[in-house]
Amino acid sequence: MPTIVFASSKGGVGKTTSALTLASVLAANEVPTALIDADPNAPIAKWAERFPSQVPQTLTVRHALGSKVAELIDGAQEPFVIVDLEGSRNVEVSVGLSRADLALIPMKGSQLDADEAANVVQLIGRQELIFKRKIPYRVFFAQTSPVIADKGMRNIKAQLEAAGIPMLKTSMVDRAAFKAPFQLGGTIYSLTPREVRNPQSAVENAEAFATEVRDTLIAERDA
Ligand SMILES: Nc1ncnc2c1ncn2[C@@H]1O[C@H](COP(=O)(O)OP(=O)(O)O)[C@@H](O)[C@H]1O
Ligand SMILES: [Mg+2]
Repeated sequence: MPTIVFASSKGGVGKTTSALTLASVLAANEVPTALIDADPNAPIAKWAERFPSQVPQTLTVRHALGSKVAELIDGAQEPFVIVDLEGSRNVEVSVGLSRADLALIPMKGSQLDADEAANVVQLIGRQELIFKRKIPYRVFFAQTSPVIADKGMRNIKAQLEAAGIPMLKTSMVDRAAFKAPFQLGGTIYSLTPREVRNPQSAVENAEAFATEVRDTLIAERDA
């Protein structure tokens, strides 16, 4: 069961939103998926509690209270496990990274975010030493403009490339449809054009993201 962990040393970059979105694509493709909410604020657990009838049957949400992250990851029987970590550097984050087949680090297109992403990459390096295993990871852009990549973002991409930090090609675009499930329940697949603008574009973005994540997992497994 591949374990995908969303991590960053900072809040507000897009871990929770991207984790629910990725899990929604897997679930919609009939892949039984465990979505582990390891944030004490429990945003995903609350989503599932508020709108229980709208949680896809193939998606199981579990809230990792206290020190249960390892237990929940190790005990999951589902073929896919997605973990939404808290935006800090606590022990739970370290435990989550230790189990990751792929760590995904969202960043927005600012210099400060690029510096934070570099910090997480350093943290991953230290965890690799502690746990004596490679932790595959990718940085990705979250909340990008749907229009065009600006000069600042291209510059940050070049910086990351020069530092040898691997990135996903697919960004998670800033779209109301990615936020809406937290307010309305359900997933990007259950949104109608009356509820948000252009839900289909969000679905296409999410599916491209999920495809690249799957290909990355396969490439890392075979590496
Ligand atoms: N792709 C996106 N499109 C639109 N809004 C987003 C997107 N990703 C995140 N957001 C918004 O940005 C804020 C922070 O996102 P969140 O997923 O909670 O980040 P984190 O889990 O890293 O703290 C939230 O208000 C969320 O609705
Ligand atoms: Mg979060």
